[in-house]
Amino acid sequence: MSLPLTLSRAAQLLGVTRAVLQKHIAAGELPSHDGMVTTEDLQHLFPDVRLEDSGAFERITQIKEQAFGRRIRERVLPNQEILAQRLAAQSEEYEEVRRTLAHYHDLIEAMREKIEQMAGASPSEQLAVLARFLDDGLASVLGNEEPPDTIAVMDDMLRVMSANVKVKPSGHEFHVEGNETVLEAALRAGLAPSYGCGNGNCGLCKARVVAGHTKQIRNTDYPLSASERAQGYTLLCSHTAVSDLVVEMLEAKSPDDIPQQEIVAKVKGVSSLAADTMLLHLQTPRTNRLRFLAGQRITLNVTGSTANFRGEYAIASCPCDDRNLLFHICRDNSDGERDEFAARLFAGAFKPGDLVSLFGPFGDFVLKKESCNDLVFVACDSGFAPVKSLIEHAVASDLPGMQRLVWAATRPDGHYLENQCRAWADALETFSYALIDAADPAAAGVEAARHVLAECDPAHRDIYIVGPGGFVDAVARALQAGGVAEQQLVVEVL
Ligand code: FES
Repeated sequence: MSLPLTLSRAAQLLGVTRAVLQKHIAAGELPSHDGMVTTEDLQHLFPDVRLEDSGAFERITQIKEQAFGRRIRERVLPNQEILAQRLAAQSEEYEEVRRTLAHYHDLIEAMREKIEQMAGASPSEQLAVLARFLDDGLASVLGNEEPPDTIAVMDDMLRVMSANVKVKPSGHEFHVEGNETVLEAALRAGLAPSYGCGNGNCGLCKARVVAGHTKQIRNTDYPLSASERAQGYTLLCSHTAVSDLVVEMLEAKSPDDIPQQEIVAKVKGVSSLAADTMLLHLQTPRTNRLRFLAGQRITLNVTGSTANFRGEYAIASCPCDDRNLLFHICRDNSDGERDEFAARLFAGAFKPGDLVSLFGPFGDFVLKKESCNDLVFVACDSGFAPVKSLIEHAVASDLPGMQRLVWAATRPDGHYLENQCRAWADALETFSYALIDAADPAAAGVEAARHVLAECDPAHRDIYIVGPGGFVDAVARALQAGGVAEQQLVVEVL
């Protein structure tokens, strides 16, 4: 029996991105109706999928975890109670199918008896032929061992391991795996749900479950009223999904929807990415995480009796990990000015456990989430930091388009995370990159724009440009001279 699957479910099962399946659909190789594909058509297109490879549907998750430094989560099965409930629901489905088959069997048996009863009224040879025909037909139905629909079986297994969540009104979809909460799963999938403490205290993650069942797995102090409970409201940060869900959920559509926050984080680590570029890793308290959009900046502030210095930096990590925040900090500003925060960092003033105040986030260098265009990222030097956040977020969100990175380097540090680019390219069929060296930002901008115009048809592309002012101006000017519309450009000057 061929089963209909959503594109995101099919991609998860096969371990490919939705963009790959959409390419097959666009090429007429994979039939699609109302956004659904069938397991039979998928099996035809991917004949090498085998049940023993069922780990394939975890491949994309593993890739994301390994290549993109995702939230470190327990990779465990759901707890026994939830597992039992999901298995019970599936057993019921199988039982229904078995009963249906038994009915067909009974019907054929009854027909055979009927014909035998008619033996006296019709030529016996004719009845014998009919009876034999039915016997053969019955034997063939019962003995018909069609090859199993491997993808459907994998889907069954996945339904035990995870639950699908559909979000209203956006139509976004994600999967709740293991013991994660619905909120954790939504963030991991690149959504921007409304939430605050992440800890059951503030009520900002309150959402209405329209269909399906949840179970509380974390303590909560926030009191939902009896009326809210009756309407199906639940706290996404303290509940997991027992079954597939449909949830009415608020999602941030723009930076204006993200509140300004003030959080005291701890230094988790400081390491060198290159001679003049440091990686600063900050960790927020478990109960006070930073809500931000990929590509945004934040102010880091240290105050004390002997020191008071601050700096504003782009966040280089994905919002799907809202506790672990990464920054690529250069020794000097792009305009050559002294950066006191950076100077202290390079002087070794930060040790693990030191406190740093965060204030923000700021900026609108964020993905146009509803756009289906391919994405082109054009970065110069440490402009790679916000682009890294955007790429990780685009991957987590499983955006449909292709992604192309053009990274220009004008400093001796060069492409200080080239290995990261290689890891993305190895892991993702939809990602490619080019590296450019140039003497200064303006020259780098001209060369990067020439590269973009030569390598990609600029139509149907959103182009994100980030770096020093001279670089951003040069790229934007050259692209617009090459026919790119201003609305296609999203720019950020560092
Ligand atoms: S995020 Fe605060 S209660 Fe859920």
